[in-house]
Amino acid sequence: MASSDSHMLKFPDHFLFGAATSAHQTEGNNTNSDWWDFERKTGTPVREPSGDACDSYHRYHEDIAIVRDFGLQAYRFSIEWARIEPAEGFFSNAELAHYRRMVEACREAGIVPVVTFHHFTLPRWLDAEGGFLSPRFVELFERYCDRTARALGDLIGWACTINEPEGAGDAGWVVGVHPPGIVGDVQSMWAVADNVFDAHRKGAAAIRRHTDAPVGVTLALQDIQYVDGAEPGSSPWENNTRVSDRFMEASADDEFVGIQTYTRIVIGPEGVRGPGLQPDKKNDIVETDWTTMTGWELYPEALRGTIHRAARISGGKPILLTENGIATRDDPKRAYYIDKALRTVHECLQEGIDVRGYLYWSLLDNYEWSGGYQPQFGICAVDRETFERTPKPSGFYLGKIAQSRALTREPIAWPQMR
Ligand code: BGC
Repeated sequence: MASSDSHMLKFPDHFLFGAATSAHQTEGNNTNSDWWDFERKTGTPVREPSGDACDSYHRYHEDIAIVRDFGLQAYRFSIEWARIEPAEGFFSNAELAHYRRMVEACREAGIVPVVTFHHFTLPRWLDAEGGFLSPRFVELFERYCDRTARALGDLIGWACTINEPEGAGDAGWVVGVHPPGIVGDVQSMWAVADNVFDAHRKGAAAIRRHTDAPVGVTLALQDIQYVDGAEPGSSPWENNTRVSDRFMEASADDEFVGIQTYTRIVIGPEGVRGPGLQPDKKNDIVETDWTTMTGWELYPEALRGTIHRAARISGGKPILLTENGIATRDDPKRAYYIDKALRTVHECLQEGIDVRGYLYWSLLDNYEWSGGYQPQFGICAVDRETFERTPKPSGFYLGKIAQSRALTREPIAWPQMR
């Protein structure tokens, strides 16, 4: 029997429920990008190359139909700079038309397109001149945003400039899990931080010239918890946090701030305690009841800490949860995670924090960067040979919440969901 309204936790009418992907992780054959080369280099931590990925470049209609059939309202995807500007200064009208067809397909399906302009990858020609460290990075990004927003701006629902900019320097120059794969160069990490910061501000201004859609940046915020008297130090997560705080402070010029949270990092006086957020691994990670296929702690409540932090530092800017999810083989566990995460979001809404939506990462089981195809984040499986999509029950569970805009008051315990 359906529960009456008083037995439900309601979400506001404008709250967006959706799912997210990125171009390189799903499109396939992104041959003109820095990642395509990085995946083929020896000595990197990359498990396997992306290859055809999910063939979403040709199958985006199927993906959008899955979002719609789940009952979700928004689809976040990224457009690929390496395709749009395959050679410096040459903007491909054919590729711009491709992405325009994609946003049109969303609109036709009644889905709000949340468009990310840059999600990790760079055109190969830009990588060759230093990538994020190129002295021309800011001006080139601004030009790319201007040209692209001119082509798509009227149809975009929300625009995200650079995905997780605060992690770019760390991943590429300190931990070495992203191109150029350098380890331990902290000075370059801070130089990248300055460049992506300026690029975001100039890129956002360029996008605003062509759209009325809200423009913002999407930040990787894990819930950092200090215990037993530990003090903030300079671990990679803490450095990322400093950079994201700077973005949040500067978000005064933005219409929203995007938050991407997966887990918590517990730090004691001796350093990271428990699983933390390990760098991607080449070897299979054994999932346990309380850790995931990426080795992270199952901790959907992490959103509480990160939403509070963003609300505090950004001065009450609207928040869009642009990524949150779990890599697991156990789909009921994913539904449990989604349920808990949304309860946490609901609590924050009750406290008066302006959270505008929740986009699950990811719509598809896709290419998880250095981790290759092993981690399964998707609410929809993808056959690696035929690309056949198989929606999972957790996606329908999220869709049911999206349709009713409500959660039952009693949380669903994970073992019971099986
Ligand atoms: C990234 C995604 C990635 C996800 C899970 C985020 O850092 O934006 O591209 O797949 O986390 O690791």
